[in-house]
Amino acid sequence: MTQPVAEPAPVSTMPRIGDPAPEFTAVTTQGEIHFPGDYAGTWVILFSHPADFTPVCTSEFMTFATMQDEFKAYNTELVGLSVDGLYSHIAWLRTIKEKITFRDISNVEVTFPLIDDVSMKVATLYGMIMPGEATTQAVRAVFVIDPQGIVRTVLYYPLSLGRNFDELLRVVKALQTADAFGVATPADWRPGERVIVPPAGSCGTAKDRMAGTEEGVECVDWFFCTKEISEADIDTKIRTS
Ligand code: BEZ
Repeated sequence: MTQPVAEPAPVSTMPRIGDPAPEFTAVTTQGEIHFPGDYAGTWVILFSHPADFTPVCTSEFMTFATMQDEFKAYNTELVGLSVDGLYSHIAWLRTIKEKITFRDISNVEVTFPLIDDVSMKVATLYGMIMPGEATTQAVRAVFVIDPQGIVRTVLYYPLSLGRNFDELLRVVKALQTADAFGVATPADWRPGERVIVPPAGSCGTAKDRMAGTEEGVECVDWFFCTKEISEADIDTKIRTS
C-alpha cells in the first residue's frame, strides 16, 4: 500500500518595498476578497495581529476602527488578518462592540474585513510568521500598498508592542504627498511642514538651487534643500473626501 505523501510546508516569503503585493483570495468577516485586485485604485493597509481575544490586539482594533473614516478620506482601506477562523473573528468583534471600553472609546463596530487565515496561507505569503517570536501567531505586520498594487511601506512589530496608528496615517499622507509633489519628507514630518526637494539630478540644477533661482526652494547645502507646501495645498491634491 502506498503511503500518503505529506505536502511540503509552504515556503515563507516576505514582500519587499517596490514589489507587487502577492495575490490571494481569502474569506473575511465582510465576505470573500481577491487581493490586491479588489483594491485597485485605492491605497490599502494590510495588517496582521497575533490573536483574537487578546488585549493589545483589542486596543489596536478599537483604535484603527475609530480612525477608519480618516483613512478613507485619504483613499485608504484597511484589511486585518490573524491565523484565527471566521467564527472566532465574528465573536471577538461582537465582544469588542458589546463589552469593551478603551480610552473612553466604546461601542466600536469594526466594519473593515478581517481575514480568516487558519491555514496560515496568507500569513506565510506575507512573511507574517516569525518563528523566533511565535510559530502559531502572526507578528504585528503592516503593508501599505498603493493603488497600483505595489508595496510601498513595510513595518513589523513584536507581539507585545501595540502600534501607533497616528504614525500609519502619517505614513499614508507622506507617501501620497511624495507621489503628488515629487518631494521627500524629513524626519518626523507632518503635513504643513517643509518638505525635502530631492537632491539635484545635475550640477546645473544644483547650482541653480544654491543660487536660489528655484522659487520657494531654500538650500543649506547643495544636497539639502527644502520648500514649503501648505497642509491645505496637500489636502487639495490628496484628500478625496
Ligand atoms: C495581545 O494582543 O495582547 C497579545 C497577543 C499575543 C501575545 C501577547 C500579547
